Amino acid sequence: MLNRHEAPLSGQSTFRRLVTYSLPHKARFLAAFVMLGIAIAAEMAIPWLVKTILDEVIVPQQFDWVHLGLLSGLVLGFYVIQAVFQYFQALTFRHGALLVVNDVRKELFEHVLNFPIRTFDKLPSGKLVSYITNDTESLRDMFVSTMPTIIQGSLRITGIFIAIALLDWRLMLLSLALIPVLLLTMHWYRKVSMPIFDGIRGQISNINNNISESLQGMALIQAFQQEKAFQDKFERNNNSWFKFRTRSIAIDSLMLAPFTRLVGSVTAIGIVAWFASASLSTAVEIGTLYAFLNYIERFFDPFRQLSMELRKLQVATVSSKRIFELLDDKEGQHAQPSAFADLTCQKDIEFRNVSLTYDEGHKALSEVSFKAEGGKFTAIVGHSGSGKSSVINLLMRFYQHQQGEILVGGKPIQAMPDAQLRRLFGLVSQDPYIFSGSILENIDLSHRNADKAKVKVAAEQVKAAKFIERLSDGYDHQPGYGGSSLSTGERQLLALARALAHDPQIFLLDEATANIDSETEEAVKAALANIQRGRTVIAVAHRLSTVQNADQILVMSKGKVVQSGIHDELVSQPGDYRELYLAQKTKEENAHENINLGLAAASAA
Ligand SMILES: Nc1ncnc2c1ncn2[C@@H]1O[C@H](COP(=O)(O)OP(=O)(O)OP(=O)(O)O)[C@@H](O)[C@H]1O
Ligand SMILES: [Mg+2]
Repeated sequence: MLNRHEAPLSGQSTFRRLVTYSLPHKARFLAAFVMLGIAIAAEMAIPWLVKTILDEVIVPQQFDWVHLGLLSGLVLGFYVIQAVFQYFQALTFRHGALLVVNDVRKELFEHVLNFPIRTFDKLPSGKLVSYITNDTESLRDMFVSTMPTIIQGSLRITGIFIAIALLDWRLMLLSLALIPVLLLTMHWYRKVSMPIFDGIRGQISNINNNISESLQGMALIQAFQQEKAFQDKFERNNNSWFKFRTRSIAIDSLMLAPFTRLVGSVTAIGIVAWFASASLSTAVEIGTLYAFLNYIERFFDPFRQLSMELRKLQVATVSSKRIFELLDDKEGQHAQPSAFADLTCQKDIEFRNVSLTYDEGHKALSEVSFKAEGGKFTAIVGHSGSGKSSVINLLMRFYQHQQGEILVGGKPIQAMPDAQLRRLFGLVSQDPYIFSGSILENIDLSHRNADKAKVKVAAEQVKAAKFIERLSDGYDHQPGYGGSSLSTGERQLLALARALAHDPQIFLLDEATANIDSETEEAVKAALANIQRGRTVIAVAHRLSTVQNADQILVMSKGKVVQSGIHDELVSQPGDYRELYLAQKTKEENAHENINLGLAAASAA
């Protein structure tokens, strides 16, 4: 889970927070309330009218047909009013509720889109998906059914009390005693069920995460025959979900409905007894008894409904807590200063004593200093884990360095908003991602009418056009989930085209040509040299052959820049670069030799 600095939200403040989301739609909710009030008033009038008919017409047997007709007409009229307003208030209320959930979901996704990249290191995608889909869904449940039930229930209960008090205030006092009993039950239920629902929700998000992780790594699971292990892990979560769920069913079925029914029956017996004893001294009107029993019956209605909704309310409280905790998670987010008007100068990049620690662990970069001149080609080489990608991560402000200063165009990067900073860069990351959609949409990520001509030019310049045009549907080809129908090299070419179409002033290439065959790589290199004019390039490379003509080569080792210079200088002096260079050269020669040997053996056979 996320690290939090704030105290956990209580149920009440969660609820208050939810209410603030309905404020933008307050006119709609107000209208729904008014309609609800009318519907309830009409409902309350009906037993009263029936009582009048009983007491004034039927019991005294004074059949004044006009009077009777008028009263019956009124009963019918109130039924119609109740039905009509009930319908429209439900409609209005639910519509408003959906709007609220829509807003929450939108805000949640927008928030996630702006999360610092480091948050995703800790928060698995399956869990996030669960937050944005399942949790907002139970919020919908709560807004669409629970809130209206609670509001309607409390209004109805109030209306019933007023009606009973008008009938006989002693009866009202008697019925008042019911309320604490029912409220205590609800309170107890809340307390007992909260951790259970928490558990259910937690397990669901674990299950989601299991699934999404297994799906992503399916080829690996099958290759290493780990189906059983992953199945076991899944079953553990699933069983735990099952246990929580059975417990919740036990509490629900034992507690709620039977209990309110019991209280209801006891009350009914008490009332009849009270009427029996009262009628010994004074005559009790039969209409009053009817109306009273009718009101009491109606009184238990909302309680029964409320107890059924309590479950959803509990689920929704847990969900909204998770949602709000996610929304409140501002950790690692930095202030966005106002944009610079003039960033037209040469895009020099300078690191001054920059140190970076990802987690509490070791330093990924320690006191790194270098200057990459604007319009020049700077290469970064070094062993795996030496911190090359980390330099790129800091430049893009995906992570925050703890020490030192990073300047772009002479300005410290934290002095400009992320959007302006990132606009300068065209990034080809080490692991290029392909989104769902066509190749065209993957090169121009804006999702707005992509400029096909621009996309084509970019694809041609990085030599991606060759493979794209070979596809039957060309630029409209859908490369499958995660680009599964493309080779790794083709994905890299697409990523290069994407960076170019972005028309950046600085290229950041992290192993951008590592998976491309030598022939295409030569072509891409030539193309890059061509488009590079006036642009700054920072390229991370494993294969030293690709950076030999760089204006500057930085050699990294264990988070430090240990050497810098041009290729000829660096090979002629002892050091990491020379070792790497010689090692790669031997490897290539061996490979060459092996091929020759293989060919010789083949021809001899
Ligand atoms: N997101 C992260 N969270 C924690 N540690 C990280 C993270 N990314 C990288 N590191 C650590 O930082 C160090 C430098 O990693 P970096 O990715 O910069 O290496 P690299 O030089 O790009 O390696 P490679 O050539 O394999 O891509 C490594 O020890 C790595 O374990
Ligand atoms: Mg790397």
